[in-house]
Amino acid sequence: MHVPAMLNEVIQLMRPKDGGVYLDGTLGYGGYSVALLEKTSPTGIVYAFDLDGSAIERASCRLAGYGNRFRPIHAGFHEASLFVDGPDIGGVDGIALDLGLSSTQIDDPERGFSFRFKGPLDMRFDTDSGLALMDVLRTIKARELERVLKDYGEERFSSRIAKAILEATKKRALSTTDDLAELITRVIPGRRGKIHPATRTFQALRILVNHELENLKAGLEALPLLLKTGGRMCVVSYHSLEDRLVKVCFREMARDSSRWRIVTPKPVRPTPEEARSNPRARSARLRSIEALAEC
Ligand SMILES: C[S@@+](CC[C@H](N)C(=O)[O-])C[C@H]1O[C@@H](n2cnc3c(N)ncnc32)[C@H](O)[C@@H]1O
Repeated sequence: MHVPAMLNEVIQLMRPKDGGVYLDGTLGYGGYSVALLEKTSPTGIVYAFDLDGSAIERASCRLAGYGNRFRPIHAGFHEASLFVDGPDIGGVDGIALDLGLSSTQIDDPERGFSFRFKGPLDMRFDTDSGLALMDVLRTIKARELERVLKDYGEERFSSRIAKAILEATKKRALSTTDDLAELITRVIPGRRGKIHPATRTFQALRILVNHELENLKAGLEALPLLLKTGGRMCVVSYHSLEDRLVKVCFREMARDSSRWRIVTPKPVRPTPEEARSNPRARSARLRSIEALAEC
């Protein structure tokens, strides 16, 4: 089961209130949505988005007791304005994004996210659309793959790994996650560190397959415009590239100091207790911005 990261800090910053309307852009197993619904009882509403249809199904079962106050939508947060920008809603009081993937996704071998299990080379959040990893690898150029491994995975051996992946793909010698993990282990030289040699490559490929940075950028541009005066957007990121996007975008917005205020001049980090008890939370960084005037 997925344990939500930085939940207390997010809820404290969002200040949910009864009667408010909130947007959970990354529903997952519903940890944030449950907390928002509890804090906004009895009339608050939560619109919750996820690209993963099975996450929507599972969380909808878990949250069925909240009835019509919980409104799950199978779509990306970057397209949320298409669903919640109507005059009937009139803006939202808070938005939360908890980026990346959930433990439920990583622990399901069939999704292909983990080098710990044998699974298909898929890695899509939304298994109903887009290209699975295998299809991406069939068409990507060596240079682009190398760039992805270097930028998204900070992989020192990006060139060597990219070459080996594309050679194996051509020979049809790569069909499962453990083929890929073995290949990476073979081509990376020297002694093994603390993390598995495939960690960085798997992370980079997941970011690529799901257009994570492009979606985040689109979400950062569109979502804040949905906020009512006093409404706050909170973003929890797990990767330095994501955090940089959030930081730069919030700073850019806050140049118009009559409309936006940065609530977290420095990113909020998990407490030592949370970092100890929830390893996923260790790299988390939380940033928040507040709408001072309606957009
Ligand atoms: C870290 S989990 C969220 C966990 C959630 N806060 C909880 O408490 O259970 C991230 C979720 O965001 C979803 N996701 C990733 N990118 C998305 C996007 N652009 N739009 C909507 N959902 C997305 C993933 O499918 C995953 O279920």
